[in-house]
Amino acid sequence: MDWWRTAVVYHVYPRSFADGNGDGVGDLVGVLRRLPHLQRLGVDAIWLSPFYPSPMADGGYDVADHRDVDPSLGTLADFEKLVAAVHDLGMRLIVDIVPNHTSDQHPWFREALSAPSGSPARQRYVFRNGRGSRGEQPPSDWRSHFGGSGWERVADGQWYLHLFAREQPDLNWDDADVRRYFLDTLRWWADLGVDGFRVDVAHALAKDLSEPLRSQPNLDSRLPLDGTDPLYDRDEVHDIYRSWRRLFDEYQPPLMAVAETWTPTNSRTYLYARHDELGQVFDFSLIKSRWDGPSYRRVIRRSMEDHRRQADDGGGLTWVLSNHDVPRHASRLALPPDADIEAWLLSGGTRPRIDLDLGRRRARAAGLLLLALPGSAYIYQGDELALPEVADLPVEFLRDPVWHRTGGALRGRDGCRVPLPWTRTGPSLGFGDAGAWLPQPAWLADYSVEAQDPDPDSTLNLYRAAIALRRKLLTSGAPLTWYDGDPSLLHFRHGNGWECVVNFGDRAQSLPPGEVVLASQVLEPGARNLPPDVAVWLRSGDQRPDSETSAPLPPG
Ligand code: GLC
Repeated sequence: MDWWRTAVVYHVYPRSFADGNGDGVGDLVGVLRRLPHLQRLGVDAIWLSPFYPSPMADGGYDVADHRDVDPSLGTLADFEKLVAAVHDLGMRLIVDIVPNHTSDQHPWFREALSAPSGSPARQRYVFRNGRGSRGEQPPSDWRSHFGGSGWERVADGQWYLHLFAREQPDLNWDDADVRRYFLDTLRWWADLGVDGFRVDVAHALAKDLSEPLRSQPNLDSRLPLDGTDPLYDRDEVHDIYRSWRRLFDEYQPPLMAVAETWTPTNSRTYLYARHDELGQVFDFSLIKSRWDGPSYRRVIRRSMEDHRRQADDGGGLTWVLSNHDVPRHASRLALPPDADIEAWLLSGGTRPRIDLDLGRRRARAAGLLLLALPGSAYIYQGDELALPEVADLPVEFLRDPVWHRTGGALRGRDGCRVPLPWTRTGPSLGFGDAGAWLPQPAWLADYSVEAQDPDPDSTLNLYRAAIALRRKLLTSGAPLTWYDGDPSLLHFRHGNGWECVVNFGDRAQSLPPGEVVLASQVLEPGARNLPPDVAVWLRSGDQRPDSETSAPLPPG
């Protein structure tokens, strides 16, 4: 079986993971030194967010050279050492590929700026004349995800498209140079030994750029589900991934890839995971779900059904609770159901006040659920520590273009990128020998690896135990059996008798029969009740009838 179908993948945001050279910024040597942590955790693979040369207009997702390492993060030699060490420890390495745009400092874009309109250098990007009598208005209503128009005007009066920051000009995937360049780049990293790729903004590469440009003022939240949107999730985008798959299959074992398509999970999401395409696509439905039994149950079952239908079982399922783009779930899950998370972030995490113990309980339960689901589980660095969001970073430290381009209307993503706490003390809590590029609040020390390692009941040890046990238990691709009952109880069973039960309600529920093999909170010996916000794994020989495997999905 392909290794990635059941892999636990640990997502490293390199600038915030570990600082090997004491300059306050995480780097590849830092990752190398901390590999024992990941090995002990038991993960199968590591995904590195971009470490490429970047002026850092968007946290490294503005890439100025796709085939090198940013000097502040190390060298290619460091990268090669890292690949070798990861493989020696029996793990795999996945790197990020950012094909929708480049940095405005990429040699191609600089060349495009000094080239005349209509030139081949401009063809690699999306340059257009403006509207209005003097071309003073943007060519269309297309918007940037980071706020404001998606068009920027250059000195000679033309405009270029940037669906993200203005320092991230969009590439034109109709251009043969662009297609070749990325195939060559994938091959270049594959030849250095990487095992797979995470494909940034995978659904945006193919665009309908025919004139007149069509209106698309909605970003990607209300996409038509037939591939006709001018910017996102067009049918032609799949041709690109089919060509990538041909390259991936030249390697042994074939490379894997996972698409990031930041849209609501829908009837087209899993098409990216088809066997002749990428194999995986991120399913973000747990990130977007409210903390209640019916919601979780609905999105999980819908994803499994969508996956079966669209990917035709050819690709793998994925599950994610947090990443470098969203507030950490140990805080998110503590918010009241109707709270507006953006408003909470803007208030510096003060309105409403959240109960961090509740957040931790839920994060631990959600972690056990994530690791019990069939498919691949993606863990963001710090999830294994139940790290909360640092919601009160002083605004002068905020780097995210979301904060700057919205004029402070949205707080942005810095609060989930605060450097990790490894020790209780030290200039940056073991992150490095100096400070940290984003300030770490003092309370972070209590969440450190050093603080959690000796405590058998810590979240860190829960994750270690769960990942080790999952390795033994996650054996078959047989459909899950779902059990009916109180809607606040989520309960499913694998074909081999491994069950997961989560109590989303506000009162204890009786535990279904079976031996408790792991619990997200310490239970009294012989306990027959499952307290609120707790998950357990059970081992049962009980063959209760499949109450729902073939039942129609609930609406929604
Ligand atoms: C993806 C990345 C995000 C980045 C954006 C633009 O969504 O995860 O961090 O800002 O793409 O590259």
